[in-house]
Amino acid sequence: MKPKVLVTRKIFDESLELVAKHCEVESNQRDIPFSPKQLLQKLKGRDGVICLLTDIISDEVLAKNPQLKIVSNVAVGYNNIDVKAATRRKVMVTNTPGVLDDTTADFTWCLILAAARGLVSADRTFRSGKWKGWGVMQFLGHDVHHKTLGICGLGRIGKGVARRARGFEMRVLYTDAVRAQEAVERELGVTFVDKTTLLRESDIVTLHVPLFPETTHYIGAPELRLMKKTAILINASRGPVVDEKALVKALKENWIAGAGLDVYEKEPKPAPGLTKLQNTALAPHIASASYDTRRKMSNMAAANCVAGLAGQRPPNLVNAEVWGQR
Ligand code: GLV
Repeated sequence: MKPKVLVTRKIFDESLELVAKHCEVESNQRDIPFSPKQLLQKLKGRDGVICLLTDIISDEVLAKNPQLKIVSNVAVGYNNIDVKAATRRKVMVTNTPGVLDDTTADFTWCLILAAARGLVSADRTFRSGKWKGWGVMQFLGHDVHHKTLGICGLGRIGKGVARRARGFEMRVLYTDAVRAQEAVERELGVTFVDKTTLLRESDIVTLHVPLFPETTHYIGAPELRLMKKTAILINASRGPVVDEKALVKALKENWIAGAGLDVYEKEPKPAPGLTKLQNTALAPHIASASYDTRRKMSNMAAANCVAGLAGQRPPNLVNAEVWGQR
């Protein structure tokens, strides 16, 4: 008998075809997230699930589906899954690392430039027909070239952002729980500093830390107070890394100059007041959303799921401890 797999949201057809070759698949083609109750119902009797970061795979969900062998997330981040509980229950968890680094780093730059130069509000003015022609004092933004970029989290995406900063001839600072090797720092042209120094000295602060309890509200009111009044905050990591309420206050009261955000604390809802602010560029969690990259992520998640259910070690196993126990 073929193993049974639930696909919780729309993914690429070719990925579905791959899973369907080896498994019996039920796929949610409506692309509206299941409610927690629906998810529980749909998971009944499934050996594997291919899910998105909009699906919360909690200990309770795992406990109620003891037959589940693999949770394959179509994302590099997996904070939507209780990995500790999955490991305890010997359930494999997989993700899609590597394939989205460059696309996310590209988009981080899209946010940096849009936020620093006020592209979104200028676009809005132009579309509304309110622009009456060129003027010296109109739409003034902040330069990016030759400024100081502060990268929080020098992982694969943070490194990609640093590489791209070369073209803008920037001074690049970074902070991380673990300092990179000297050769890496040299290759990237980055300088390690503590978080306080980075926040004080950077013109652009960009966040690339994973979401863990220790990184929740990594940027809150005290950190925003440390930043320059002319600084821009960029977040293309996970929403809860920033205290969004504090950020709205900081932007309203001009503690900092602007923000470029791709992620939000309570997606899909923005914090009250956020969308009213002019000094922001706000994207709906699209940093990895290029055709090529999303296709790769979708195929990777499918391949992880198929491998795990065929008794092979999935290529992108997050909780490697589970493997020896199976
Ligand atoms: C997207 O946000 C991802 O984690 O892949």
